Amino acid sequence: MNVSEAIHTRRAVRAYQSRSVEPAVVEALLTAAVQAPSAMNAQPWRFVVVQDTARLKRYSDIAKQLLLARDHGDNKAASYRDLLAAPEFNIFYDASTLIVLCAGERTPFSDADAWLAAANLMLAACEAGLGTCCIGFALGVLNTPEVKQELRIPPEGVAIAPVILGYPAAPSPIVPRAAPRIWSWLGR
Ligand SMILES: Cc1cc2nc3c(=O)[nH]c(=O)nc-3n(C[C@H](O)[C@H](O)[C@H](O)COP(=O)(O)O)c2cc1C
Repeated sequence: MNVSEAIHTRRAVRAYQSRSVEPAVVEALLTAAVQAPSAMNAQPWRFVVVQDTARLKRYSDIAKQLLLARDHGDNKAASYRDLLAAPEFNIFYDASTLIVLCAGERTPFSDADAWLAAANLMLAACEAGLGTCCIGFALGVLNTPEVKQELRIPPEGVAIAPVILGYPAAPSPIVPRAAPRIWSWLGR
Protein backbone atom coordinates (compact mmCIF):
# COMPACT_ATOMS: atom_id res chain seq x y z
CA MET A 1 0.00 0.00 0.00
CA ASN A 2 1.41 3.38 -0.92
CA VAL A 3 0.75 6.66 0.91
CA SER A 4 -2.04 7.67 -1.45
CA GLU A 5 -3.83 4.33 -0.97
CA ALA A 6 -3.56 4.67 2.82
CA ILE A 7 -4.92 8.23 2.69
CA HIS A 8 -7.87 7.18 0.55
CA THR A 9 -8.76 3.88 2.26
CA ARG A 10 -8.27 4.71 5.97
CA ARG A 11 -11.62 4.93 7.67
CA ALA A 12 -12.68 5.05 11.32
CA VAL A 13 -12.99 1.50 12.64
CA ARG A 14 -15.58 1.00 15.39
CA ALA A 15 -15.68 -2.83 15.65
CA TYR A 16 -12.64 -4.85 16.61
CA GLN A 17 -11.49 -8.43 17.08
CA SER A 18 -10.51 -9.27 20.68
CA ARG A 19 -6.98 -10.16 19.50
CA SER A 20 -4.46 -7.75 21.02
CA VAL A 21 -1.88 -5.81 19.03
CA GLU A 22 1.68 -7.06 19.42
CA PRO A 23 4.11 -4.70 21.21
CA ALA A 24 6.48 -4.64 18.20
CA VAL A 25 3.62 -3.43 16.01
CA VAL A 26 2.74 -0.68 18.49
CA GLU A 27 6.39 0.36 18.64
CA ALA A 28 6.57 0.56 14.83
CA LEU A 29 3.50 2.81 14.81
CA LEU A 30 5.00 5.10 17.46
CA THR A 31 8.13 5.33 15.34
CA ALA A 32 5.95 6.37 12.39
CA ALA A 33 4.18 8.93 14.59
CA VAL A 34 7.38 10.69 15.60
CA GLN A 35 8.35 11.22 11.94
CA ALA A 36 5.66 13.94 11.81
CA PRO A 37 6.67 17.57 11.47
CA SER A 38 6.46 19.72 14.59
CA ALA A 39 6.74 23.43 15.18
CA MET A 40 10.38 24.40 15.65
CA ASN A 41 11.06 20.65 15.64
CA ALA A 42 9.98 20.64 19.28
CA GLN A 43 8.78 17.02 19.04
CA PRO A 44 6.55 17.67 22.07
CA TRP A 45 4.72 14.36 21.82
CA ARG A 46 4.67 11.85 24.60
CA PHE A 47 2.77 8.58 24.42
CA VAL A 48 0.55 6.58 26.70
CA VAL A 49 -0.39 3.06 25.59
CA VAL A 50 -3.19 1.20 27.35
CA GLN A 51 -3.66 -2.48 26.52
CA ASP A 52 -6.00 -3.30 29.39
CA THR A 53 -9.62 -3.57 28.28
CA ALA A 54 -11.00 -3.55 31.86
CA ARG A 55 -9.24 -0.24 32.48
CA LEU A 56 -10.55 1.15 29.17
CA LYS A 57 -14.09 0.09 30.11
CA ARG A 58 -13.71 1.93 33.44
CA TYR A 59 -12.45 5.08 31.67
CA SER A 60 -15.31 4.80 29.19
CA ASP A 61 -17.85 4.72 32.02
CA ILE A 62 -16.31 7.82 33.64
CA ALA A 63 -16.13 9.60 30.27
CA LYS A 64 -19.80 8.97 29.62
CA GLN A 65 -20.74 10.40 33.04
CA LEU A 66 -18.61 13.49 32.41
CA LEU A 67 -20.04 14.02 28.93
CA LEU A 68 -23.64 13.55 30.06
CA ALA A 69 -23.12 16.00 32.94
CA ARG A 70 -21.95 18.70 30.55
CA ASP A 71 -24.57 21.11 29.29
CA HIS A 72 -23.90 20.95 25.58
CA GLY A 73 -26.72 23.24 24.50
CA ASP A 74 -26.59 22.23 20.85
CA ASN A 75 -28.50 19.68 18.81
CA LYS A 76 -25.49 17.76 17.57
CA ALA A 77 -24.27 17.05 21.09
CA ALA A 78 -27.84 16.25 22.18
CA SER A 79 -27.98 13.58 19.49
CA TYR A 80 -25.23 11.71 21.36
CA ARG A 81 -27.09 11.62 24.66
CA ASP A 82 -28.92 8.36 23.99
CA LEU A 83 -25.70 6.72 22.87
CA LEU A 84 -23.80 7.94 25.92
CA ALA A 85 -26.61 6.87 28.24
CA ALA A 86 -26.64 3.31 26.90
CA PRO A 87 -24.85 1.08 29.46
CA GLU A 88 -23.42 -1.18 26.76
CA PHE A 89 -21.84 1.67 24.77
CA ASN A 90 -18.07 1.72 25.18
CA ILE A 91 -16.50 4.92 23.86
CA PHE A 92 -13.44 2.81 22.93
CA TYR A 93 -15.54 0.28 21.01
CA ASP A 94 -13.90 -2.59 22.95
CA ALA A 95 -10.63 -2.02 21.08
CA SER A 96 -7.71 -3.84 22.63
CA THR A 97 -5.39 -0.84 22.51
CA LEU A 98 -5.61 2.88 23.16
CA ILE A 99 -2.72 5.14 22.21
CA VAL A 100 -2.89 8.64 23.64
CA LEU A 101 -0.72 11.25 22.00
CA CYS A 102 0.16 13.74 24.70
CA ALA A 103 2.39 16.77 25.02
CA GLY A 104 4.83 17.51 27.80
CA GLU A 105 3.06 20.84 28.21
CA ARG A 106 0.43 22.79 26.30
CA THR A 107 2.02 25.31 23.92
CA PRO A 108 0.55 27.23 20.96
CA PHE A 109 1.50 24.37 18.63
CA SER A 110 1.36 21.29 20.85
CA ASP A 111 -2.10 20.25 19.69
CA ALA A 112 -1.21 20.62 16.02
CA ASP A 113 1.98 18.64 16.55
CA ALA A 114 0.19 15.83 18.38
CA TRP A 115 -2.57 15.55 15.79
CA LEU A 116 -0.07 15.49 12.93
CA ALA A 117 1.71 12.63 14.70
CA ALA A 118 -1.67 10.93 15.19
CA ALA A 119 -2.35 11.16 11.45
CA ASN A 120 0.99 9.49 10.71
CA LEU A 121 0.16 6.76 13.20
CA MET A 122 -3.28 6.14 11.70
CA LEU A 123 -1.96 5.94 8.14
CA ALA A 124 0.84 3.57 9.18
CA ALA A 125 -1.73 1.44 11.02
CA CYS A 126 -3.88 1.34 7.90
CA GLU A 127 -0.90 0.12 5.88
CA ALA A 128 -0.32 -2.61 8.50
CA GLY A 129 -3.93 -3.82 8.18
CA LEU A 130 -4.97 -2.34 11.52
CA GLY A 131 -7.97 -0.16 12.25
CA THR A 132 -7.98 3.10 14.20
CA CYS A 133 -10.43 5.73 15.36
CA CYS A 134 -9.82 9.07 17.06
CA ILE A 135 -11.79 9.22 20.31
CA GLY A 136 -12.51 12.85 21.16
CA PHE A 137 -15.02 11.60 23.74
CA ALA A 138 -12.05 10.44 25.84
CA LEU A 139 -10.33 13.80 26.23
CA GLY A 140 -12.19 14.81 29.39
CA VAL A 141 -11.55 11.63 31.34
CA LEU A 142 -7.93 11.34 30.21
CA ASN A 143 -7.20 14.84 31.50
CA THR A 144 -8.70 14.39 34.96
CA PRO A 145 -6.00 14.57 37.66
CA GLU A 146 -6.81 11.03 38.86
CA VAL A 147 -6.52 9.40 35.45
CA LYS A 148 -3.44 11.44 34.53
CA GLN A 149 -1.78 10.11 37.64
CA GLU A 150 -2.75 6.53 36.79
CA LEU A 151 -1.35 6.96 33.29
CA ARG A 152 1.81 8.65 34.59
CA ILE A 153 1.05 11.86 32.73
CA PRO A 154 2.81 14.59 34.75
CA PRO A 155 0.68 17.48 36.07
CA GLU A 156 1.90 19.87 33.31
CA GLY A 157 1.39 17.18 30.63
CA VAL A 158 -1.75 17.08 28.52
CA ALA A 159 -3.57 14.30 26.67
CA ILE A 160 -4.37 15.60 23.19
CA ALA A 161 -5.13 12.88 20.67
CA PRO A 162 -6.65 9.57 21.83
CA VAL A 163 -6.56 6.91 19.10
CA ILE A 164 -7.89 3.37 19.45
CA LEU A 165 -6.14 0.62 17.56
CA GLY A 166 -6.89 -2.99 16.75
CA TYR A 167 -7.63 -5.63 14.17
CA PRO A 168 -10.90 -4.71 12.45
CA ALA A 169 -13.85 -7.08 12.91
CA ALA A 170 -15.31 -6.03 9.56
CA PRO A 171 -14.53 -3.57 6.76
CA SER A 172 -15.58 -0.01 7.59
CA PRO A 173 -18.04 1.80 5.39
CA ILE A 174 -16.55 4.51 3.22
CA VAL A 175 -17.64 7.89 4.56
CA PRO A 176 -17.86 10.17 1.52
CA ARG A 177 -16.12 13.51 1.43
CA ALA A 178 -17.32 16.74 -0.06
CA ALA A 179 -15.08 18.07 -2.80
CA PRO A 180 -12.57 20.66 -1.57
CA ARG A 181 -14.36 23.96 -0.92
CA ILE A 182 -11.83 26.55 -2.06
CA TRP A 183 -12.41 30.01 -0.67
CA SER A 184 -9.72 31.59 -2.77
CA TRP A 185 -6.86 30.66 -5.08
CA LEU A 186 -5.24 33.91 -5.96
CA GLY A 187 -3.04 34.31 -8.99
CA ARG A 188 -4.15 31.12 -10.73
C1 LIG B 1 -10.72 15.10 16.59
C2 LIG B 1 -11.59 13.90 16.29
C3 LIG B 1 -12.36 13.36 17.30
C4 LIG B 1 -13.15 12.23 17.03
N1 LIG B 1 -13.84 11.66 18.05
C5 LIG B 1 -14.57 10.54 17.83
C6 LIG B 1 -15.23 9.88 18.91
O1 LIG B 1 -15.18 10.30 20.07
N2 LIG B 1 -15.94 8.76 18.62
C7 LIG B 1 -16.02 8.25 17.35
O2 LIG B 1 -16.68 7.23 17.16
N3 LIG B 1 -15.39 8.85 16.30
C8 LIG B 1 -14.66 9.97 16.53
N4 LIG B 1 -13.98 10.57 15.48
C9 LIG B 1 -14.02 9.95 14.15
C10 LIG B 1 -14.88 10.74 13.16
O3 LIG B 1 -16.23 10.58 13.49
C11 LIG B 1 -14.58 10.23 11.74
O4 LIG B 1 -13.23 10.43 11.43
C12 LIG B 1 -15.46 10.94 10.70
O5 LIG B 1 -16.81 10.61 10.89
C13 LIG B 1 -15.08 10.58 9.26
O6 LIG B 1 -15.12 9.19 9.10
P1 LIG B 1 -13.84 8.39 8.58
O7 LIG B 1 -12.70 8.68 9.51
O8 LIG B 1 -14.27 6.94 8.62
O9 LIG B 1 -13.57 8.83 7.19
C14 LIG B 1 -13.19 11.68 15.72
C15 LIG B 1 -12.40 12.24 14.72
C16 LIG B 1 -11.60 13.32 15.00
C17 LIG B 1 -10.73 13.89 13.89
